[in-house]
Amino acid sequence: MAYQNLLIAEDNGIITLTLNREKALNALNQQTMQELADFFGNKIADRQDIKGVIITGAGEKAFVAGADIKEFLALDEGKGRDMSQKGQDVFFLIERFHRPVIAAVNGFALGGGCELAMACHMRIASENARFGQPEVNLGIIPGYGGTQRLIQYIGKTKATELMMTGDMINATDALSLGLVNYVVPQEALMDKAIELLEKTATKGPIAIQKVIESINAYFQYDEDGFAREVTEFGNTTTTEDFKEGAGAFIEKRKADFKGK
Ligand code: CAA
Repeated sequence: MAYQNLLIAEDNGIITLTLNREKALNALNQQTMQELADFFGNKIADRQDIKGVIITGAGEKAFVAGADIKEFLALDEGKGRDMSQKGQDVFFLIERFHRPVIAAVNGFALGGGCELAMACHMRIASENARFGQPEVNLGIIPGYGGTQRLIQYIGKTKATELMMTGDMINATDALSLGLVNYVVPQEALMDKAIELLEKTATKGPIAIQKVIESINAYFQYDEDGFAREVTEFGNTTTTEDFKEGAGAFIEKRKADFKGK
């Protein structure tokens, strides 16, 4: 699939995915959602050789200002459900991706933009970032997982307030609420994301994948996360990486993981 709205750059095993609709503050239109689905579901779905993915927005003003409101007038109940389900499915692809995905939030992360950031495994915010779920201003609710993930990150009390008032919070508040991992000056944003991916890349890749799967199991109502952890802990003990990691510790040397 040829991409119109995604810019892809790969350097030293790190893929940077830039949502590139700057004039519309990188709003997620349906074309962009299809491109994201293709990117995570097909293009890099089997890439075991990469360290991870950074998602960011073009320009210095917005990460993503939400779903594209200009496409909303065509919605009815059926199309609305379809849009929400497809959006959730795309964001599950990101949340379940086998390598770390980091949101480098370089400005507004509103509505679907906040939801996209929350689907990533970690979030780094620039000092000018703003987060919010302003859907009630439009007479709708978050549709790409926001009603569920915002509670997971910041708890029901504040999540309810933000979703009912539509208020935005700044990067400092997002940090203190636990919505983001770090706040850095805008010019340091990508370096911080790369630093995190370089660090996770020194760990056992299978262990990283199993951490992702076990964390996700906590939030799946049809799954017992503790049981999943038992299974995956057992699985990781059968890997060459485990023998290498434990052996390196005992031999007082740096581990050389192969992802096997
Ligand atoms: N969809 C489509 N276009 C958008 C957009 C969006 N979500 N957000 C901004 N834009 C466009 C504006 O229409 C404007 O385009 P024009 O120049 O063609 O008029 C351009 O981006 C710049 O925006 P503003 O002039 O509004 O910039 P600002 O600095 O005055 O305000 C803002 C910035 C506060 C982010 C404001 O643009 C805004 O409130 N945007 C909408 C945010 C929003 O409601 N997001 C939720 C969408 S619903 C959703 O996401 C549902 C879901 O869960 C799936």
